[in-house]
Amino acid sequence: MTLPIIIDTDPGQDDAVAILLALASPELEVLGITAVAGNVPLALTEVNARKICELAGKPDVKVYAGAIRPLLHNLVTAEHVHGKTGLDGPVLPEPKMPLQKQHAVDFIIETLMERPAGTVTICTLGPLTNIALALIKDPRISSRIKRIVAMGGGFFEGGNITPTAEFNIYVDPQAARLVLNAGIPFTLVPLDCTHQVLTTKDRVAKFRTMKNNSGPAIASMMDFFERFDAEKYGTDGGPLHDPCVIAWLLHPEFFTSRDVNVSVECESQLTMGMTVVDWWKVTNRKPNATVCRGVNADQLFDLLTERLARMA
Ligand code: BDR
Ligand code: CA
Repeated sequence: MTLPIIIDTDPGQDDAVAILLALASPELEVLGITAVAGNVPLALTEVNARKICELAGKPDVKVYAGAIRPLLHNLVTAEHVHGKTGLDGPVLPEPKMPLQKQHAVDFIIETLMERPAGTVTICTLGPLTNIALALIKDPRISSRIKRIVAMGGGFFEGGNITPTAEFNIYVDPQAARLVLNAGIPFTLVPLDCTHQVLTTKDRVAKFRTMKNNSGPAIASMMDFFERFDAEKYGTDGGPLHDPCVIAWLLHPEFFTSRDVNVSVECESQLTMGMTVVDWWKVTNRKPNATVCRGVNADQLFDLLTERLARMA
């Protein structure tokens, strides 16, 4: 039995690796990829999503364009991390596969309403705008989603775009708050976890020497992506955030986690987008998420390396 998933994403080099990991994994059935504005504007993220599918040799995967901007805020992008295109590093050809005509939000709703309730998992690798809009447009979907697994937030590690906020949550805090409070089973993979997953030279070297297109392309993406983070954090390699979401689906036992309450700060200018995690259960706020804190990075990279070697 395969697990049907929708990947909502703003590629992004680490999103690209996550998408490749999902497409390379026979346990998962990627029903569609929905693009959202985030790392770069939507016009680029939807093209990047298609470029990645073609790199993977999977031009039949359906890619949909979603929200052009967050619910309330102006869009904040991260070209300083991902480069002008969002996928700087390798030169990938312009995609030939089409963008689907249907809007991403409608695709999400239609898929959840058509498929048996409780079967489809949503993986979010960017701001939660598309998912929030789908919940606003058709609230019935909340009881039909099996689980949302999201890369976002940070508590013990602080933030990466402000001292207290992680990028995906910061870009659309209102969307994150709405989705976290929708009563949907939710797994959050925050910076506390992803900062342990470093693209060290040895790990990237394994991608570079693969005899396929995907491995060397990813190595070249990592060379670009990590230049900023490795310098920022002073580590050998930068954190590989988004693939942790797919790895959690495949091997939750790689991770340590707790079921706790997560609230998103949407008012304070100083701490906008902070994920306030009640790790020690010092409030009576009900748990609304499984929050990951630790991960076995060696196991995760072994999985990634084994799967990517299967790609085109
Ligand atoms: C998240 O922000 C983006 O820049 C990455 O793709 C990842 O989803 C990390 O904070
Ligand atoms: Ca991302």
